[in-house]
Amino acid sequence: MAGNITFTMLKPDAVEANNIGPILAKMNEGGFRILAMKYLRLSKEQAGQFYAVHKERPFYGELVNYMSGGPIVAAVLTKDNAVADFRKLIGATDPSKAEEGTIRKLFAKSIAANAVHGSDSDENAGIEANFFFSQLERF
Ligand code: CMP
Repeated sequence: MAGNITFTMLKPDAVEANNIGPILAKMNEGGFRILAMKYLRLSKEQAGQFYAVHKERPFYGELVNYMSGGPIVAAVLTKDNAVADFRKLIGATDPSKAEEGTIRKLFAKSIAANAVHGSDSDENAGIEANFFFSQLERF
């Protein structure tokens, strides 16, 4: 059964462009509620650990540098069918391929600076939420 949480980050490009408010509004309009949220800057080590599944990819170094290059917002969101519905709301990883009206189409600059992250499975949503937040069971 599909789970009801997903994890997101508003990436450095979105924060730098002052788009935290408009992007969170789109998430709310898409039916998502915020369960936990924090504003922080990742160290290179933390970014490398978060994206360890991409370690062998050619873009890994660029990804880690990019994600540790400025502040981000990390959040846990809830909605029925959260992972799939959120991926639909944010659009394709490459913003030039994202559908009209999606968050990446509206706010992303490039495949690396693509405004937001969204979990790709229920299992990863749990792992990623736990990477940033503890005691989520309180909610
Ligand atoms: P995200 O959903 O956070 O998951 C992995 C990230 O790697 C992805 O978004 C992109 O920002 C980034 N990424 C994927 N492919 C490339 C690429 N070809 N070049 C640079 N970054 C990439």
